[in-house]
Amino acid sequence: MEHVLVTGGAGYVGSGLLRELLFQGYSVTCVDNLMFGGESLLDIWHNENFNFIKCDVNDWAAFNDVLSNNKFDAVIHLAAIVGDPACRMQSELAEQTNWESTKWLLDKYMEIGIPKFVFASTCSNYGKMDDPESYVDEDSVLAPVSLYAELKVKFEQYMLNEIDKNSNFSPTSLRFSTVYGLSPRMRFDLTVNEFTKDLALGRELIIFGEKFWRPYCHVKDFSNAFITVLRSPKDKVAYNVFNVGDTSENYTKQMLVEEIQKEKITTYSFNGSSLCHMRTMPHGIDIGFLKGAMLEDKLKQLHGETKRMRVLSLSKLIESEFDYYLVQALTLNK
Ligand SMILES: NC(=O)c1ccc[n+]([C@@H]2O[C@H](COP(=O)([O-])OP(=O)(O)OC[C@H]3O[C@@H](n4cnc5c(N)ncnc54)[C@H](O)[C@@H]3O)[C@@H](O)[C@H]2O)c1
Repeated sequence: MEHVLVTGGAGYVGSGLLRELLFQGYSVTCVDNLMFGGESLLDIWHNENFNFIKCDVNDWAAFNDVLSNNKFDAVIHLAAIVGDPACRMQSELAEQTNWESTKWLLDKYMEIGIPKFVFASTCSNYGKMDDPESYVDEDSVLAPVSLYAELKVKFEQYMLNEIDKNSNFSPTSLRFSTVYGLSPRMRFDLTVNEFTKDLALGRELIIFGEKFWRPYCHVKDFSNAFITVLRSPKDKVAYNVFNVGDTSENYTKQMLVEEIQKEKITTYSFNGSSLCHMRTMPHGIDIGFLKGAMLEDKLKQLHGETKRMRVLSLSKLIESEFDYYLVQALTLNK
């Protein structure tokens, strides 16, 4: 049984990922400083294949103990100060956590010989696009416009280009589309979740930049992406970067509201002008869970078959999850 370490596993993305890893037969250790509490872990607490260690990744001595006392086959690194506003407000902590400690950890994993490392990066690395009608792919220029994205880019560059490549080590970066959907540790600061909650609670939406394009991806597909990398041959994923999302899952904010409104009609108004259009086309060429005709051959090489994983569609998900959003929103009363 492979043993996977997930840092930041008590968070929005991680708490769903832990469950999926356990379901798929992995043994899982979560390290987290429980910045947002640990309720998201309660129902897996007694799973015999699950272990939790409360530890701050910035406490290198304590983290060294975690590494000395365990043997891991892979690490999925999620622990971070997440999002532009949080990084702006806690810039020193963000530098320390998202860059210095993440770099220190990567060096440490290589030194002790953990074979696989998967990093949670972001489509924000691409920044604003000169031509809003074009698409970006993994080879597009990176132009981060926030500290959050700058630190992601800096670490990615280090991991992919600056460390001495070692054939026993397989680091991969996944540039995720903007996440949404239900999770045991709910985040309502994410656009789809925020809009759905506010419409569910009958509030008026004031939307800035209604024509602003972004790619979206359900939090469950984040888990699929991580597990796909763990299962892929090393020569396909080592020292490689993949966009995660689906070409058909690009939406403007106006389109999001229209999708959500199909579920419940309330008032909303658009406001402000579109500061920039960003339209990305994540294609994740080598990984078999994304849509797109060009995937077929690569998929054969990866998994020996052309069957590909289903990508969740935003409109269908909103329909099926709407009532749960309402329950979560009312429970959290935010
Ligand atoms: N679309 C995107 O671009 C996108 C979207 C969401 C998340 N992400 C990435 O995925 C990862 C997880 O994001 P999330 O939405 O689950 O965020 P989150 O804030 O819900 O989770 C982060 C977790 O990390 C933990 N953590 C923070 N600092 C820590 C530290 N110093 N030591 C130990 N644990 C620490 C927190 O307690 C929390 O449980 C992040 O790296 C984030 O950048 C990318």
